[in-house]
Amino acid sequence: MDEQLKLIKEEALSAIAAAETPESLNDIRVNVLGKKGSLTALLKGLRDVAPEDRPAAGQKINDVRGEIEKALADAQDNAQKKEQAARLAVEQIDVTLPAKHHTGGHSHPCTIALREMERIFIGMGYEVVEGPEIEKDYYNFEALNIPANHPAKDEQDTFYINADMLLRTQTSSTQIHEMEKGRIPIRMISPGRVYRADEVDATHSPVFHQVEGLVVDKGITFADLKGTLAEFSRQLFGPETKVRFRPHHFPFTEPSAEMDVSCFKCGGKGCSFCKGEGWIEILGCGMVHPHVLEMSGIDPDEYTGFAFGVGLERIALLKYGIDDMRLIYENDIRFLEQF
Ligand code: PHE
Repeated sequence: MDEQLKLIKEEALSAIAAAETPESLNDIRVNVLGKKGSLTALLKGLRDVAPEDRPAAGQKINDVRGEIEKALADAQDNAQKKEQAARLAVEQIDVTLPAKHHTGGHSHPCTIALREMERIFIGMGYEVVEGPEIEKDYYNFEALNIPANHPAKDEQDTFYINADMLLRTQTSSTQIHEMEKGRIPIRMISPGRVYRADEVDATHSPVFHQVEGLVVDKGITFADLKGTLAEFSRQLFGPETKVRFRPHHFPFTEPSAEMDVSCFKCGGKGCSFCKGEGWIEILGCGMVHPHVLEMSGIDPDEYTGFAFGVGLERIALLKYGIDDMRLIYENDIRFLEQF
């Protein structure tokens, strides 16, 4: 029996030393210590040993069992450590690497400028409405007192879809849609995209945005126009802002004007920002032409109104001191981040 015990022990210990995975160690445990294992068999064989020798023989077998169990436990431990080390090597995380950068999105300068304008006009009781970008010639020109052969049509030559459909050149078309609804009084602004066959440069783009304004009611005068736009300018550019109206011509307003605001950089003294003028042109406006009211089904003897149109990009450029309109459209994150 001693010989057999020695053999089992040697074989088991060398198998344990050679084992590489926890699974193979488990196999050894089953083969040696399991119910049908070699050492268990030896233990069962004690039956045939003389009773007086049994305790000593049993002790020997148990000692070997203890040794093998310890060797198995140590090997198991080692295998686990090796496996963990291998996993750690593969899943290594370099905690000194810079963290992933999560930047929150934010509004485009044009959006910020529009929200600001909407806030101001909503505060004065205006509604915000939208009109179609693909427009009938009638709404973009005809109903705005620009008949087929009017020279003003040339100035705003645009993208035609067919003989009477086009991409609108101005948000003034929304004035007509609003008046046709037949709900008076009207107090609305209408922001939106407009299109013109212009070359791209620092101040032009074939696609840009305007904000239209229209008020129609009984007894509306040029004084209402002036007061409203002066208040708008003060809220947008600061309480010191002054406004100036220069006579102008638009086919759909009479009288018509262009409005300048005093330069909010120099306060009107003249600087590089306002090119020494002290004034900055910001919008076109006027009293709604009686013929325009009439064409939209409003009696010009009963009602009057004023309208204005502002270039949204122009406001954003001025407000944020941006010197090239192209920056607005390029979506360069380094530019956009600044607002
Ligand atoms: N639609 C005009 C333009 O694009 C601006 C304007 C609007 C003028 C309303 C007067 C009244 O130039």
